[in-house]
Amino acid sequence: MTGRRFDEEAWRAVEEAIRLENERQRAADLPPEQRYRSLHPEAAAFLYMLAAATGARRILEVGTSAGYSTLWLARACAATGGRVVTLERNREAVALAEDHFNRAGVTPCVDVVVGDARETLAGLDMTFDFGFVDGEKSEYVEYGQLLWPKLSAGASLVADNVLSHAEATAPFLAYVSDLPAAATEVVALGNGLSWTVKLTR
Ligand SMILES: C[S@@+](CC[C@H](N)C(=O)[O-])C[C@H]1O[C@@H](n2cnc3c(N)ncnc32)[C@H](O)[C@@H]1O
Repeated sequence: MTGRRFDEEAWRAVEEAIRLENERQRAADLPPEQRYRSLHPEAAAFLYMLAAATGARRILEVGTSAGYSTLWLARACAATGGRVVTLERNREAVALAEDHFNRAGVTPCVDVVVGDARETLAGLDMTFDFGFVDGEKSEYVEYGQLLWPKLSAGASLVADNVLSHAEATAPFLAYVSDLPAAATEVVALGNGLSWTVKLTR
């Protein structure tokens, strides 16, 4: 979004609308497939700060849903002049997220790729300096295996739910922990984030 003014007021209005609707859906105990399943706001703010602090310009996200985490990553892009590529297979979610991006004024820095991330990610001929994994927990390892070779040295790879769904995400934590030239820690924000940094050696 280089050269474009970030519309703080529009962004805040959409951030609040998604956050409140997500809370309402949880309180109503709707089944997961009828909920946004948005990232915890504190975890989303952390993602934003991490991406902005590391100057991330090419961000890849797996799992767009209603676009809450994407909104925060796009906020980082407004600071770094970068772009977010976000992968989602649910067409209804994509339509909803795109409406949110339009209303928040971040459409120019977001590319939504529709389809199964395990196929679309494999087909992306790009390098990224920030990755965020938030799709199906049972597929985290596959996302990691596809994304890791596309990350540049110094890049961060973050995944959600490593504390709330410790058993389901254990294979992913084992995968990133065993990577050579990488450092991984768990950050106890929201549902628990794993944060892996790709080192040069
Ligand atoms: C937890 S939600 C993502 C929430 C979003 N990151 C946020 O914080 O607003 C998970 C999303 O991943 C999508 N998803 C799951 N498996 C996928 C796959 N293999 N390819 C693409 N999208 C997938 C689901 O359709 C769902 O919308």
